[in-house]
Amino acid sequence: MTPKKLFQWLVLAACVLFAPAAMHAANQKPGTFTVGDKTFLLNGQPFVVKAAEVHYPRIPRPYWEHRIQMCKALGMNTLCLYVFWNIHEQREGVFDFTGNNDVAEFCRLAQKNGMYVIVRPGPYVCAEWEMGGLPWWLLKKKDIKLRERDPYFMERVKIFEEKVGEQLKGLTIQNGGPIIMIQVENEYGSYGEDKPYVSEIRDMLREIYRPTSQPLPIGRGVDSSSAEKVTTPLPHREGQGEGLLLFQCDWSSNFEKNGLDDLTWTMNFGTGANINDQFRRLGELRPNAPKMCSEFWSGWFDKWGARHETRPAKDMVDGMDEMLSKGISFSLYMTHGGTSFGHWAGANSPGFAPDVTSYDYDAPINEWGLATPKFWELRKMMEIYNDGKKMPAVPKAPMPIITVPKFELTEFAPFYRNQHLIPSVTPMTFEEMNMGWGMTYYVTALPEVPVQSLLTLEAHDFAQVFIDDVYIGKIDRVKNEKSLTLPPVKKGQKLAIFIEAMGRINFGRAIKDFKGIVGDVVINAEVDDNEVSWNLKKWTMTPIPDDYGRAVRSFDSDAHPNAFGRPLALGKRGYYRGYFNLKKVGDTFLNFETWGKGQVYVNGHAMGRIWSIGPQQTLYVPGCWLKKGKNEIIVLDVVGPREAVVWGQAEPELNKLQLEKSNKHNNIGDKPDLNSATSVSVSGGSAAGAVTAKPGNGWQTFRFAAPQKGRYLAIECLSTQKDGDRVAIAELYLQGSDGKRLSREPWTTKYANSEEENGNHTGDKVFDLQESTYWQTEKSATAPHLLVIDLGSVQTVSALEYLPRAEQGAPGSIKNFKVYLY
Ligand code: GLA
Ligand code: CA
Repeated sequence: MTPKKLFQWLVLAACVLFAPAAMHAANQKPGTFTVGDKTFLLNGQPFVVKAAEVHYPRIPRPYWEHRIQMCKALGMNTLCLYVFWNIHEQREGVFDFTGNNDVAEFCRLAQKNGMYVIVRPGPYVCAEWEMGGLPWWLLKKKDIKLRERDPYFMERVKIFEEKVGEQLKGLTIQNGGPIIMIQVENEYGSYGEDKPYVSEIRDMLREIYRPTSQPLPIGRGVDSSSAEKVTTPLPHREGQGEGLLLFQCDWSSNFEKNGLDDLTWTMNFGTGANINDQFRRLGELRPNAPKMCSEFWSGWFDKWGARHETRPAKDMVDGMDEMLSKGISFSLYMTHGGTSFGHWAGANSPGFAPDVTSYDYDAPINEWGLATPKFWELRKMMEIYNDGKKMPAVPKAPMPIITVPKFELTEFAPFYRNQHLIPSVTPMTFEEMNMGWGMTYYVTALPEVPVQSLLTLEAHDFAQVFIDDVYIGKIDRVKNEKSLTLPPVKKGQKLAIFIEAMGRINFGRAIKDFKGIVGDVVINAEVDDNEVSWNLKKWTMTPIPDDYGRAVRSFDSDAHPNAFGRPLALGKRGYYRGYFNLKKVGDTFLNFETWGKGQVYVNGHAMGRIWSIGPQQTLYVPGCWLKKGKNEIIVLDVVGPREAVVWGQAEPELNKLQLEKSNKHNNIGDKPDLNSATSVSVSGGSAAGAVTAKPGNGWQTFRFAAPQKGRYLAIECLSTQKDGDRVAIAELYLQGSDGKRLSREPWTTKYANSEEENGNHTGDKVFDLQESTYWQTEKSATAPHLLVIDLGSVQTVSALEYLPRAEQGAPGSIKNFKVYLY
């Protein structure tokens, strides 16, 4: 061997030895995790999974181990985590598994602390996370079909899953690591019915995590012709032999739609749910299968403009106690929610309901990692099931909590129009301009419109409109706004639309959520008794990404005016910079209640979104990202502050709404006069038009005697199954004349004579796609209770589907009621 050859050989050998899988090699003897008779088996022994759901990007890396130990102190034996595709592949083909993205290190820390791991690598994860974890750049292929067998989608999924596999494969239990199960897709039943697609994802994951007779190394990065073949696939025997256990999670109401014969099925449901009922169907279909609640919702997530969500500790603890007493496995979602830092918070649909930055979730371990009263109650119960052993100690918080006196952000930099002004006949979306997140300034010249007119556009998500740099008003997608009245204008006046995007929708079909102006911008007016309409063309666009670098450069731009272009005439909208000094470092909650809307960077870390409407008014700032001495803060405000001041408090403010208008739908002008209307006659209903629902949990369908037409659906509840109960409805669907469910995308609540707003039980909860959320009347309200839904346009309806609350006994379920369509 020549010295050169020898050197090459040594390099090659080193590559084999230190290939990714080898680097991530686990530190224990290989084991098995399989399915036995009505139980999981860990190394052949019955095992109940007590999993804590936590998300590594929602926890600063220096705190990972603390949070893992907190979960352990609750008596959990496993951690359950999603892998977030879009945080790892922010640009197509460029992967990052370092720092806060080092998911393998998170798993190793779990193992070091004696915990097993369940991995849920999507590709879609939901999770109140931007686009449910899918990367925005997929939308550059405009006609892409997400979560379907679209060739480009599948090709990118495969590349991503293989990259994750390189990180995690060496950490499966079969390789001596902590990973016992891998999830295939996520709640596909609430998206569609497509077994071939789900099967392809299964096959992909099965292939990637297929055990080998000689587990390591895999020899990636090695030219296969020269390297010795070391991988010999074993035959696949799901859950019975060597294979890593693959499972699917769904709701009890829809898991059959996509349930694959050779995968383990687990159910998702929230605290308070009737547990026997949730597993009934699974028990019928697979009497010998182990039972697991793969997401037992400890609390719920918050969205902008609605009250902070909480769920009673007792319901959570009782539910878990019941499951453990029956040997049912679970994952508590969330056990520690953490924070959706930066622009990673998603949005719900139907409608557009962006999630706040905090992902506290009312979980037993709060957003900043400490034990709540829920934690202590849960720990007490979990001790009963700890095999008589002492519970692991509760670790000390890694940082103290500090306050920061009020200070002012005195520096200001406007948004700049840079050199890359984009011209286009029609307005372009962010994706078309190759930008994922941020803002865009759209400009065009107006035609002569001598009277008031109506500007109509689909703005994603928060648009502010200016004529000749004078602010006219906003079009807010959260409020379902699509138009704005313009004053009379002269030909050539400048129309500017400044749009800020929020998180992409993460649930339902609407995840294909393009940002910016989507479609045409139209002006309608009545001129001399004629309806005139203009489709505005010839736009120029300035995209402004929302990253920290851009913010910092904007402050430098004064020094280099030509390099950076002109400031945009947007008044006090822009970046604000200030500094605060710390003698002692610690976690704190910076208060932004005097600010408008935007994002915050502290020492270069993107902390998350702020919005004056609340309910969240403070941002959690972890001490590990602060330093002694001078700390920098930049606030990007697309609206402008009332006062540019910030202070740090010792507790968060997660429940302070500052709304222009209440969330309730009790405007009396919207109440229909039902005295003169005839209710829909339902097959089997009484002559007087009243229909009687059955008691108990689960869906019920009421077929109309004949199809009815109308734009508004009114449900008048005359009585409840249990006297004195407040009325509650979890979900409603209408079937069209073909018997298929109508799309609820355009639905809004028109009127409700009573809505319990405090617990977020407003009317829209009956069409939010979530079976665990519900409309509920206030305690003081008396029957009849009326809920009116605007279907968006006239529809033909042949049946009504109704779901009561999922809790034991279906509290608040309706008995006699009337249906109107008008
Ligand atoms: C579903 C999803 C989760 C999360 C919860 C709600 O169960 O699977 O990712 O979105 O809903 O918090
Ligand atoms: Ca609901």
